[in-house]
Amino acid sequence: MKLTHFLSTALLSSHGLASFLEHILDIGSDVESVAESILDSVDFYVFEESEIEATTIVKTSKGDFTIESRLTGFKGCPGDNQTKIQEAFVDALKIVNSVGNPTEIIGRKPGSDYEQGQEAYDYWGPQKQWSDGLFTVSGNYKRAILGGTETWRGDWWWDRYFQITCDDPLDRCSSKEGLHAYENDPNTKEHSGKYPRINFCPRFFEFQPSLKERIGNITNGVLPKDNPENLRSRGSIMLHEMFHTVANSVEVSWNAGISQPKAVDHKPYEDQDSSRGSEKAYGAHRAKYLAKMKNRAMSRLVFTNTDNYVYYALSTYMMKHFKTAYPEEPPASWSAPAIQGEDEELSTDDDPNTAVSDFSTDEPLLSDEELYQQSSEDDEDITCSTSDSSPALETCLEIIRSQWTYTELRLNAGRPGKSWWFAYQTGCAISLNYISDWSVNGTDEAAAEEAICGLTYYDALVSTLSIVTKCATDGKIGGKIPFGRDDCKAEIEIIVPHGLPPTGI
Ligand SMILES: *[C@@H]1O[C@H](CO)[C@@H](O)[C@H](O)[C@H]1NC(C)=O
Ligand SMILES: *[C@@H]1O[C@H](CO)[C@@H](O)[C@H](O)[C@H]1NC(C)=O
Ligand SMILES: *[C@@H]1O[C@H](CO)[C@@H](O)[C@H](O)[C@H]1NC(C)=O
Repeated sequence: MKLTHFLSTALLSSHGLASFLEHILDIGSDVESVAESILDSVDFYVFEESEIEATTIVKTSKGDFTIESRLTGFKGCPGDNQTKIQEAFVDALKIVNSVGNPTEIIGRKPGSDYEQGQEAYDYWGPQKQWSDGLFTVSGNYKRAILGGTETWRGDWWWDRYFQITCDDPLDRCSSKEGLHAYENDPNTKEHSGKYPRINFCPRFFEFQPSLKERIGNITNGVLPKDNPENLRSRGSIMLHEMFHTVANSVEVSWNAGISQPKAVDHKPYEDQDSSRGSEKAYGAHRAKYLAKMKNRAMSRLVFTNTDNYVYYALSTYMMKHFKTAYPEEPPASWSAPAIQGEDEELSTDDDPNTAVSDFSTDEPLLSDEELYQQSSEDDEDITCSTSDSSPALETCLEIIRSQWTYTELRLNAGRPGKSWWFAYQTGCAISLNYISDWSVNGTDEAAAEEAICGLTYYDALVSTLSIVTKCATDGKIGGKIPFGRDDCKAEIEIIVPHGLPPTGI
């Protein structure tokens, strides 16, 4: 069973978590601060731009390492090219550290009035759908920023590396795809090695400027500050490839990979001209196009589209580095080319990092007003039922605290009308009541794996905390909140448990 494995992984890999749990176990039942400290607890440290250099030493409990020690191999990369790759990696880290605390990107903190800027809507869609991607987005950025590395990713002790090559092992650099670089996951038919592999093509070295050159031209006014594409560089391409790598648990730990589920380049189903290759959702205007699509199932593609991560980060970098307003250009559209002034990078049929997805290049889009609408539906949807016979607040908080160890674990599949207590002890149970069918079919683990709807304990616990924040009175707590997505509907309810725990099937 996966649970044991996950538990040992979590305990082994995050010393930050243990001290965090100690911390919240101490603070009694002050609901607001429990809720806040739980959402604050992500164990990472965001670096200031000036702190990030190739030689920056990151101190860990296992020893010290430098940033660039995370890259290995360099087969076929002449010395000067290797230097450019290392510089690109450092630049990628600078760019991605600019996003700040990843839980605040589209997260919500009970009791806090943190307000997201326009970039959150432009790249992650309307606020109504943020809870669908909350964990994916914060988890992916958490793993990409250097601080995530410090505590549980990417250093020599844990054997976590990106394998770098320039010898074009799949013979794709000179094809009509027009690639700058490509990534392959470990243990796949493309790549039998054990580390995620990133290959850089001659175009990367010959035609792409460094981040520094871009910054120079923005500083001297040659390029305007209103468009994150003006920061496109070897650093942003490195970041793109990094987001393609998949975070997997291996042996007792995690690999160096970043996205979970895997971030791909989505391509529209209508554009399958395989003789030519098809266009991908590359660049800022196409990333925004995905976010603005009216159909919510389609719009959710933002959470797994690589360039939504890259251009969101380039936008925050632009704002932080130049202390300037949000770069609003270019507007959402699927116009060509994907990147101004560059040839289209086309995808071939057998490219494992692209996905033919269910959208076309002329979908109906939300108006600006609809996209930027503030939604308070979550709070209004909470139904409180706290009474003398409700569970004791302290008991329920204890369960929430203990379940916090499992934040990355997926929620179980279940049948409509059935329930599953994903957390309980005597006196309090947190019940997931399925409304739509979350199961593919059957009760075996493989089917359940597929049926998980992409939702995790983290998502469920965050919703549970909203109930707690709104409904706790006089040491008691009871209530429920709608949970899930259109196609995976459920509610979460805090109840007094009776009888055997239901399993949802
Ligand atoms: C190394 O970089 C140069 C340009 O600086 C480029 O012409 C050459 O193709 C690169 N080598 C490889 C193997 O990519
Ligand atoms: C920077 O500006 C100069 C002068 O206009 C131009 O030749 C160069 O290509 C620009 N480089 C970048 C990376 O924008
Ligand atoms: C699901 O399983 C049930 C019982 O095993 C079977 O009768 C039903 O046809 C299955 N449904 C689908 C969609 O496969």
